[in-house]
Amino acid sequence: MENENKNTFTIIDNRTGASYTIPVQDGTIRAMDLRQIKVTPDEFGTMSYDPAFMNTASCRSAITFIDGDRGILLYRGYPIEQLAEHCSFLEVAYLILYGELPTQDQLHDFERNVTLHTLVHENVKKLMEGFRYDAHPMGMFISSVAALSTFYPEARRVRDPEQRKLDIFRLIAKVPTIAAWSYRHHLGLPYVYPDNDLPYTANFMNMLWRKVESKYVANPVLARALDILFILHADHEQNCSANTMRCVGSSEADPYVTVAAAAAALSGPLHGGANEAVLTMLAEIGSKDNVPAYIKQIKEGKGKLMGFGHRIYKNYDPRARIIKQTADAVFEVTGRNPLLDIAIELERIALEDEYFIKRKLYPNVDFYSGIIYQAMGFPTSMFTVLFAIPRTVGWLAQWQEMLEDKEQKIARPRQIYIGHSRREFVPMEKRGTPQQMAAV
Ligand code: CMC
Repeated sequence: MENENKNTFTIIDNRTGASYTIPVQDGTIRAMDLRQIKVTPDEFGTMSYDPAFMNTASCRSAITFIDGDRGILLYRGYPIEQLAEHCSFLEVAYLILYGELPTQDQLHDFERNVTLHTLVHENVKKLMEGFRYDAHPMGMFISSVAALSTFYPEARRVRDPEQRKLDIFRLIAKVPTIAAWSYRHHLGLPYVYPDNDLPYTANFMNMLWRKVESKYVANPVLARALDILFILHADHEQNCSANTMRCVGSSEADPYVTVAAAAAALSGPLHGGANEAVLTMLAEIGSKDNVPAYIKQIKEGKGKLMGFGHRIYKNYDPRARIIKQTADAVFEVTGRNPLLDIAIELERIALEDEYFIKRKLYPNVDFYSGIIYQAMGFPTSMFTVLFAIPRTVGWLAQWQEMLEDKEQKIARPRQIYIGHSRREFVPMEKRGTPQQMAAV
């Protein structure tokens, strides 16, 4: 009996004196097991309250593992450092989507399938041309990805694995095309069609930067750096956008609008929009000498140090370390970005400061990525789009896993209602002043 109860909690309800045995699995109790705890039989039962999901697991997932205290990130069990060193982005995409590293043949097939779908319908191009000349590329990206839904109505068959497979290829293939065109639009340059002779990242660079040459040749160091950045951004378990992907996908919306919703979540400055905000901040600081005064301001509660802090990492973000190394290779080609000196000084001072040490605030993935993107020639407005391209893979893997999970249903949190209890309607002529109305 004692043994049987080992993996359980005993909860005693002091309101009634009743005792409940609640199973504990994987260090977790099921919120639904609390429902039986009630004072009277007709009561709803106990819920858990967890704004911002600070301590709630919403799914079981086999995709990405993070140990935030030790700064560890694994995709399907493989350390991010090893994947970044040895793999191409599409190889990692295969791993994230299907669970195992591909054989040579599997990778070849996967690359071929993705390459076959890089083109978008001409009307998507027309739609994109309709945006204002100064449209933010992330807004264009989100809207254009959503618009793909209208070109593939069959994508609504989300319970059909073959259909899903096709839409996954399409999305991974088309996001670089849409991203590159949103950039060209910004510059008033004609959109460049995909070149299917080129690998994924080099083809993206071709669509971004080809001018009048008949064949664009990407600098191999920069292409590799971009590939590594894509690997680092491919998935990050249940963050705001992955959670959006799962939440919207749980209603069985098609994957195009669902990815667009996830991209919208990514666009905020507290999530993927942070890389853009870091550059704005570094430019605002202006020089190394101004760093101490800027940090003082942050400590006084005037804003946040963008690119610092993370809900999960309470140690150095392992992705930031790899990005810092990648920066050296990029700067050998592009020349050093002068903002790097400000960033390094900011990091040095912040990491020695009691305020940041106490709160375990370290540079995150966004702190250095923008500096590299800028050195490569991207405007800041493109940074979050560059995050969205590889993260599409993670979103799709999370979506697929959610749909195949028998325990998942449409996502629908509970609330604690704090509004008025029932009150009678007041006709217009009896409403008086707003103050009188509020007092009703
Ligand atoms: N600068 C200064 N203080 C900070 C920062 C920061 N960047 N981040 C957190 N704090 C403080 C915060 O004010 C709070 O202090 P106190 O305890 O005195 O009230 C304490 O640290 C705990 O912060 P929190 O807001 O409870 O932490 P959170 O887990 O809710 O927020 C975060 C995580 C990433 C939203 C936040 O750290 C932040 O806003 N950072 C800046 C934006 C950023 O770089 N975002 C990119 C995240 S990584 C990539 C991604 O996932 O998209």
